[in-house]
Amino acid sequence: MIPGKKVKTAYFCTQCGAEHPRWQGQCRECNAWNSLAEEKVPVRQKASLSSSVKKVDRQKINRITLTTTQGYRSGLVEFDRVLGGQLLPGMTVLLSGDPGIGKSTLMLQVAEAYSRQGVSVLYVTGEESLSQIKLRAQRLNVNGENITVVNTTGLEEITALIAEENYNIVLVDSIQTIASALLDSPPGTVGQVREAANQLIMQAKAAGFALFLVGHVTKDGLIAGPKVLEHMVDTVIYFEGDSAHLYRLLRAQKNRFGSIAEIGLFQMVSDGLAEVSNPSSYFLSGNSEMVRSGAVVTGVCEGNRPLLVEIQALVSRSSYGYPQRVAGGIDAKKLALLLAILEKRGDYPLNTHDVFVSVAGGLKLSEPALDLPVLAAIVSSLLNRPVDNKTMVVGEVGLSGEVRPVSLIDRRVAEAAKLGFDTMVIPDKNKDQVTDKNVTLVGVKDIQSALDQLIG
Ligand SMILES: Nc1ncnc2c1ncn2[C@@H]1O[C@H](COP(=O)(O)OP(=O)(O)OP(=O)(O)O)[C@@H](O)[C@H]1O
Ligand SMILES: [Mg+2]
Repeated sequence: MIPGKKVKTAYFCTQCGAEHPRWQGQCRECNAWNSLAEEKVPVRQKASLSSSVKKVDRQKINRITLTTTQGYRSGLVEFDRVLGGQLLPGMTVLLSGDPGIGKSTLMLQVAEAYSRQGVSVLYVTGEESLSQIKLRAQRLNVNGENITVVNTTGLEEITALIAEENYNIVLVDSIQTIASALLDSPPGTVGQVREAANQLIMQAKAAGFALFLVGHVTKDGLIAGPKVLEHMVDTVIYFEGDSAHLYRLLRAQKNRFGSIAEIGLFQMVSDGLAEVSNPSSYFLSGNSEMVRSGAVVTGVCEGNRPLLVEIQALVSRSSYGYPQRVAGGIDAKKLALLLAILEKRGDYPLNTHDVFVSVAGGLKLSEPALDLPVLAAIVSSLLNRPVDNKTMVVGEVGLSGEVRPVSLIDRRVAEAAKLGFDTMVIPDKNKDQVTDKNVTLVGVKDIQSALDQLIG
């Protein structure tokens, strides 16, 4: 605390970061109960109005001249794609993800990729010692020609260092460890996180360096501390995956300079994250020659990107009065709904059977286009009759058993055709949208005709 600096007490919501002048039981912004915490914040000096008001620069939008700024490309295709092609000077990016998912690994590899392009990078770590970073760098084969590493948690030290040297890119791992000496509260509190992010973002915009902030997430999957962080930065990217599987998905949740429909796919290997450029063959890596009942291949779209995945179902006679329904990778309520549709419309005796459904490879999916392949896999397992292993199935199923059209059908079909699938069972209304003439298209209108086609 700097002596003589005026401070006031404010109450911040630990869920959303909203500031309240006094304590109250419920946050007025996000309605969370008992989430306000007391923090000391510095009183901003009010300048006298007449002296500080400057005339603002105004322009007609068609008169604004564009200053073409050269962005940075890391050369990691999967990463650049998620950022919208390139990293612009002054751009601020928040990277978040579960503990241990590989955020620091990704940041160090990205730093190395930019460094190889001749871009100078400052890597600020508040979490790991320099020798820990060195160990990781060795494991990841990071040469680090243009990477400067500092280990500090002091906000003022960081801003002073950045002001002194001219870095193109600054990475802060993580924003929750950085604290300003001007505030009383410990690092990680809402006031500190907000202040640190605010200072760094303002400096990035003013000095024109690109800024990456690594942010932790809470157990509910929110970015820990203030939700306001997400509003402050230009781009929010999430790094997600499953600790039991090696794949990692990078997804933009917000991007002021690019599409959020792109994903990047990586695989965690011993020397770091490797890009997966052909995701479909990655998720279909099972034995495609073997014909099995209960396995159906479908084309899903993660953002704009088509992926082929295998849906697997196991249906067995239940030994208890209450049959089990277990869904892995798809929503359990969705499974219950699909089973209800099957019982009602198809007359299959599912109330005496346990049903287990999973998405091979550990992906978590929530797409309406999965309905039909899930149903087909269940019936295939129930009747013990396999679905042809060169057939791809997509379709949304309505409550009355009708098959509804899905989005981006052409991409799904093209991806399947690329991987050697020759028959596509798709919603009838989608048939005209497919441009590929070399595949056999089977348009289906309801689940019964689809199941007749697939399982016979
Ligand atoms: N020697 C190793 N060999 C293979 N994989 C490793 C090795 N060391 C670490 N990993 C992988 O890296 C992951 C940790 O990566 P990293 O430290 O980048 O995660 P993080 O998201 O930054 O975690 P935190 O939230 O704790 O900062 C581990 O979960 C493990 O999968
Ligand atoms: Mg880390």
